[in-house]
Amino acid sequence: MPQEPSSLSADVRHELGQLLGGKARFDEPLGRHCSMGTGGSADALCLVDNLETLRRLLSLLAGRHVHWLIIGRGTNLLPADLGFRGVAVKLEGEFNQVVVEQSRIVAGAAVALASLVERAMSRDLGGLEFSTGIPGCVGGSLPGNAGTASESLGEWVESVDMLVPDGRLRTLRGSDLAFAYRSSNLRAYGGVVTSASFRLTPRPRAQVAANVKRYTEKRKGQPLTFPNVGCIFKNPPGHSAGQLIEQAGLKGLRIDQMEVSAKHANFMINLGGATTAQITSLISHVRERVLASAGIRLETEVNVLDEFGAIGIAVSTEEGRPAHA
Ligand code: EPU
Repeated sequence: MPQEPSSLSADVRHELGQLLGGKARFDEPLGRHCSMGTGGSADALCLVDNLETLRRLLSLLAGRHVHWLIIGRGTNLLPADLGFRGVAVKLEGEFNQVVVEQSRIVAGAAVALASLVERAMSRDLGGLEFSTGIPGCVGGSLPGNAGTASESLGEWVESVDMLVPDGRLRTLRGSDLAFAYRSSNLRAYGGVVTSASFRLTPRPRAQVAANVKRYTEKRKGQPLTFPNVGCIFKNPPGHSAGQLIEQAGLKGLRIDQMEVSAKHANFMINLGGATTAQITSLISHVRERVLASAGIRLETEVNVLDEFGAIGIAVSTEEGRPAHA
């Protein structure tokens, strides 16, 4: 796939190198960092391991009018085949920290949901077992309020720390974040989630383990051995997207190297070498067919990026300030 010229001047590249050393990688294929494995290269990928570096990086990019986006674990992201004309940012290091204080667990944005559940279990805390089956990290999962049909992360959130565009670290109360089914108002703050505090329920380890086992069993009905981004569509109120897609006769349908999973119809799998364009074709096709058969327009849960930004995740504006697509 042809790539557009980089949006980064030699000066910006130099400054990124000075700030991050080898943790600024130029012309980095995003497919390596995203679970579907598709998409072109970002002009740069910056690995950031502490808050102060993140603050300096975002300030540098704003001053230079460079687009940026946070990619998390890339488990709900489909980068454009033409790549991303800007800087993809991945949090690591101190953003992987977890601190447990009685029934409160404070987790950095980069912590995988699966490890969050394990840490909670090791301290006899329950509540988040449902997220065993959900890929992704704390920072990436909160804006879309990841969960199952009946449970979601937001119910357990006490507060979220976010680095906002003016460089302040703000603590937002969970009750102010309008958590609802696969949504919240977190993106409206225009910043980067750095950590979140969850208030859990004391629960014997054996019971937490039994719940985790139950959710793990459920995941066996999902096509996890192929590259995927979890569920493609949100469940429309009162319906299951997987069931609607199956009823429309689309289960197992292939377009090029992409398949509507024959195992779970709300998953799409990359059979090897697929492109983001192939996935978006399949998404459009499924939408049209479900609309025709059931009269319901499916809304995507996955974030499909264009070359300059993203649908549904934090991106920067033309002026280099964070905003939301
Ligand atoms: N179903 C079908 N055909 C299919 C797939 C499902 O008829 O091909 C039916 C099932 O029989 C069931 C219903 O649809 O009656 C719901 O299916 P399932 O229990 O698999 O749950 P889901 O609503 O499809 C949700 C989350 C998943 C999470 C599971 C855990 C959403 C959009 N998805 O899926 O989250 O793992 O619950 O039970 O809410 C994700 O968000 O990426 C994700 C994987």
